[in-house]
Amino acid sequence: MEEIKVSAATKQEQYEELLPQITSLLNDEPNSIANMANVVAALKQTFDYYSWVGFYLFDKQSNELVLGPFQGKIACTRIGFGKGVCGASFQQKETIIVPDVEQFPGHIYCDGGTKSEIVVPIFLQSNIIGVLDVDSYAFDSFDETDKKYLEQLLATIAGRIAN
Ligand code: SME
Repeated sequence: MEEIKVSAATKQEQYEELLPQITSLLNDEPNSIANMANVVAALKQTFDYYSWVGFYLFDKQSNELVLGPFQGKIACTRIGFGKGVCGASFQQKETIIVPDVEQFPGHIYCDGGTKSEIVVPIFLQSNIIGVLDVDSYAFDSFDETDKKYLEQLLATIAGRIAN
């Protein structure tokens, strides 16, 4: 098993070093749960400012987002369509950056310590299949750099994390 190694200093350089390693980690494995589990582990161990990172996948039967593999404290298992930041991102099919969760109407607290958040939708071909949610214990942790690289990562690996 190869190790994930990121030694760069800036956030941008860290993403630049990390993303190809994640892609190659997933290359030989078709199982989506195994792949999602390793993606969140690789992200969490690389970025100190991530307090929680995990997948929420859309369940057509219940019309809800359901918790998938994650790293961090236990979290809400189901999020209704359009609810919270995750539901809003899924509904709007757009990345949402929340610098201060208290300012986001309807934000769902899974961990009372969360201060800021980014939610990135996942598209397989042109269908949205879920979101990646990242939380931080600091205000204003996420910016256009996180958005750019997380969107890039999810576009690259969507075929490896969808059933
Ligand atoms: N804060 C999210 C819910 C998920 S947890 O933070 C892990 C939201 O408002 O959608």
